[in-house]
Amino acid sequence: MDHFQLKDSIVHCEEVPLPLIAEAVGTPVYVYSSATMRRHARVFREALEPLSDPLVAYAVKANPNAAVLATLAREGLGADVVSSGEYARARAAGIAADKIVFSGVGKTVEEMRLALEGGLCQFNLESLEEARMLAEVAHSLGKAAPAAFRINPDVEAGSHAKISTGAAHNKFGLPIDDALAAYRLARTLPGLDVRGVAVHIGSQLTSLAPLERAFAKIGELIRVLRADGHRIDTADLGGGLGVPYDPAAPLPPSPEDYGEMVRRLTDGWDVRLIFEPGRLIVGNAGVLLTRVIRVKPGVVHPFIIVDAGMNDLMRPSLYDAWHAIEAVAPRGEQWVANVVGPVCETGDTFATARSMDRVEADDLLFFRTAGAYAATMASTYNSRPLTPEVLVDGDRWAVVRERIDVEALIKADRIPYWMQP
Ligand code: LLP
Repeated sequence: MDHFQLKDSIVHCEEVPLPLIAEAVGTPVYVYSSATMRRHARVFREALEPLSDPLVAYAVKANPNAAVLATLAREGLGADVVSSGEYARARAAGIAADKIVFSGVGKTVEEMRLALEGGLCQFNLESLEEARMLAEVAHSLGKAAPAAFRINPDVEAGSHAKISTGAAHNKFGLPIDDALAAYRLARTLPGLDVRGVAVHIGSQLTSLAPLERAFAKIGELIRVLRADGHRIDTADLGGGLGVPYDPAAPLPPSPEDYGEMVRRLTDGWDVRLIFEPGRLIVGNAGVLLTRVIRVKPGVVHPFIIVDAGMNDLMRPSLYDAWHAIEAVAPRGEQWVANVVGPVCETGDTFATARSMDRVEADDLLFFRTAGAYAATMASTYNSRPLTPEVLVDGDRWAVVRERIDVEALIKADRIPYWMQP
């Protein structure tokens, strides 16, 4: 359920008509609904009840906009971060340090130092090599770093290959068969306080079965570790729950189904559970609003050329992702068309032979489910400005990220001294 609905024949975000934002800010522009984000945060938390005191650490990478983080901070969410930049953003948005989990396969010494000095819930370590480095950094600061090992359970997530992370050949995590030895060694390192396990097998999962397989392996590992004398206080179950993109596809499992599965699988673990949802919280809370530049006849179907490009929304070109594309003021007619951007690559194609609303030049279209992994993955390829972002709350709206224009891009470049007059 989201808050992008037709009212009086015009699509609104909550109480605000999308054309109003397009006129005032220009296109392309991302538009987020506060009510949808708040609703998803609550639905997820409620689905976990009656687990005692779980930490829901929103995966900042999905959408790191300051206003989005501040909205979620007010809902009591923590943050899962993977860089010093995300750590700084989470703190700046008011997320308490002890609700921050630091994940990521390539944490640097500087990033470890920053998080140790600022405080955090735990680091999720991905190798023994990383554990040694963190131990050294923490020891030199006179601290003991709270940590968990992220375990690679060797489970195929069944998602797109580029966003599946839990198979043995993926770069992520410590192979489950090496875990016991790693925990034993880590215990000997001064500066390190390993007290948890973590797992994350991929994103946009449309079935609970791989998660169940992974969690079952983690449950068994917790038993083995405890029998070996290790203290395990936390289990971080990662993110990954898929959201609906294509209304014609089967619905992904609901948060309620997920919560039921988690309670069943973790029964008796006696740990604090941590969750890292990203897409589920913000995916359907955002749209990308774009204007039709022109419609060009095609050999088979017309090409709708819109002013958003692959640089603004990379998911279709990167993962062959399907996003619903609808008219803001539907004319009541359907046709079959291709939707493409202005970028000079064939990959700059959002939809091929799509049955959709018929549109003409200057009409507004919007891409649904563009709240997660959308604005944050945008680039300025083809020297296109970086897309602005707008947050709506009821009948109020505000630009929460200004358009980074071409002047700013040119200003950031430098002509070297030897080429200057
Ligand atoms: N935790 C870890 C360690 C992760 O790597 C991720 C996502 C999450 C949590 C959040 O997963 P979620 O709940 O959002 O599925 N750019 C891709 C998705 C990349 C996901 C990366 N990791 C896309 O557009 O589909």
